[in-house]
Amino acid sequence: MSAFILKVEKLCLSYSGFMAVDNVTFQVARNTIHSIIGPNGAGKTSLFHCLTGARRPTSGYVEFDGREITREPTHKRVSAGMARSFQITSLFQNLTVRENLRLASQGRDGDGALTFWRSAFARREHIEVADAVMERLGLTKRADAAAGGLPHGQQRILELGMALCGRPRLLLLDEPTAGMGVEDIPLMTRLIAELGKEYSVMLIEHNMGIVMSISDVITVMSQGGILVEGKPEVIRADARVREAYLGDAA
Ligand SMILES: Nc1ncnc2c1ncn2[C@@H]1O[C@H](COP(=O)(O)OP(=O)(O)OP(=O)(O)O)[C@@H](O)[C@H]1O
Ligand SMILES: [Mg+2]
Repeated sequence: MSAFILKVEKLCLSYSGFMAVDNVTFQVARNTIHSIIGPNGAGKTSLFHCLTGARRPTSGYVEFDGREITREPTHKRVSAGMARSFQITSLFQNLTVRENLRLASQGRDGDGALTFWRSAFARREHIEVADAVMERLGLTKRADAAAGGLPHGQQRILELGMALCGRPRLLLLDEPTAGMGVEDIPLMTRLIAELGKEYSVMLIEHNMGIVMSISDVITVMSQGGILVEGKPEVIRADARVREAYLGDAA
């Protein structure tokens, strides 16, 4: 088994001629947190689109868990163990916390819609997975609350839980703390840190405090390409990184 859960080589994505991802090469080691940072418009979300199958890369190569997936559809990547939590909300607002998690834990089985609905809320294993995740997220006391009624920060934590219910080997998180109040950020940070030990996590995050404290490796993107990659202390000290961010603010 390769030490890397993900290998990306010379990946490019163009939006009608504009190179949003430009010749990107990197690898993600198993059981680590690998963060992608960079100024607005650097191409971070576009890169994630190529990794999850939401967008087909213009050229390049993506390997997940030893198998090429460059052109595979999203559902195959998900059943192979990839999970993504979105920048936008993906919860069933009218269902309870527990129901959302149960649906998420049966989602990965994917035997077709009929089986999915017939077995809804029935299968023991799914219930156990959902309840374990709920406990871990500190949401057990809100089990019967409608997801849509939770405070924003708890909704984001529940979204992370939905991704976890699929028992992923690689979790892709695009700005998981976006819009969260400061009071919820420590819990989210701790959860991500724990998940990085158990699975592999790719994290896009603008909050540098979080990125610097929990990342094993940081890849800095700028204008579609990779500017520099290294451990947090290396990235923190790199003049090019500072310049890229200052350029963004100017
Ligand atoms: N669907 C699209 N069509 C054309 N251009 C796009 C499209 N989506 C993104 N872009 C452009 O591609 C570039 C990269 O965008 P992307 O969303 O990947 O950046 P990002 O690093 O995630 O930025 P942010 O930190 O603001 O989320 C930007 O210049 C953006 O305007
Ligand atoms: Mg983005």
